[in-house]
Amino acid sequence: MKTVLITGVGRRLGFFLAHQFVGLGYRVIGQYRSERTELVELRDLGVTLVQADFSQRTQLLGFVKQLPQLCDSLDVLIHNASLFVSDEPNHSPAEQAEFFDAIYAVHMLAPKLINETMHSALCRAKGCVVMMTDIYAQQPHAKFRSYCASKAGLANMLKAYASHWAPEVRVNGIEPGPMLFLDEHDQQHRERVLAQTPLAKEGGIAPVWQTIELLINNEFLTGCSIKVDGGRSLTQW
Ligand SMILES: NC(=O)c1ccc[n+]([C@@H]2O[C@H](COP(=O)([O-])OP(=O)(O)OC[C@H]3O[C@@H](n4cnc5c(N)ncnc54)[C@H](OP(=O)(O)O)[C@@H]3O)[C@@H](O)[C@H]2O)c1
Repeated sequence: MKTVLITGVGRRLGFFLAHQFVGLGYRVIGQYRSERTELVELRDLGVTLVQADFSQRTQLLGFVKQLPQLCDSLDVLIHNASLFVSDEPNHSPAEQAEFFDAIYAVHMLAPKLINETMHSALCRAKGCVVMMTDIYAQQPHAKFRSYCASKAGLANMLKAYASHWAPEVRVNGIEPGPMLFLDEHDQQHRERVLAQTPLAKEGGIAPVWQTIELLINNEFLTGCSIKVDGGRSLTQW
């Protein structure tokens, strides 16, 4: 039986991915931060769930320490957990440091530690890694400076791992654009983003899933990052 490890399975894309992989017959290991009703459903489906807040160093290290006992052969690893928050204008230097540390821990430190810990398991399966980055990694949004910088770091890291780990393990990324709006996005925000998106719609999860399938199945792809953004990166914001 193939195994997939997905971070951030409590909602939205991560939750959907856990479902999809169960449907494909994979053994699914999912990390989550907050207890949510969706997780009851995943437990009922047989998903192995491990709680960890990656912004808490001891929780992150504890999570990573458990991984080798959970699987010794890993076919697919998806770094999906994300902290999409803007920089606050009135934060003190200490608050800015705490904020930056949390974002860096979720988008860069956790993927790095998980990668290093699971390298042998990935080699055993000739597995692949998918890193969820963002079109903002290449063209940052001024209000989300720390988020964008950390996703840019992740996008850079995927190339380093792709060359370091070839030919045994492939490492690729997806740069979503407007995939799914958050509940807190108001009408004005949605209209502005869609006006900047040539295909003029919220993409939804299906196009990202199609791209994950492509990255898993195409054995000649590594170090590649695919924009799934309805063309938004062609415009300026
Ligand atoms: N949605 C979009 O349109 C869009 C656009 C560009 C890029 N992306 C990228 O695509 C991926 C999926 O997007 P999404 O909108 O489905 O993500 P999301 O809902 O914003 O977040 C995914 C998960 O990350 C977890 N998480 C947040 N902080 C964490 C922490 N400190 N430690 C551990 N886990 C933490 C959340 O846990 P909780 O359940 O506890 O909240 C959540 O379940 C993300 O990597 C995102 O950056 C999405």
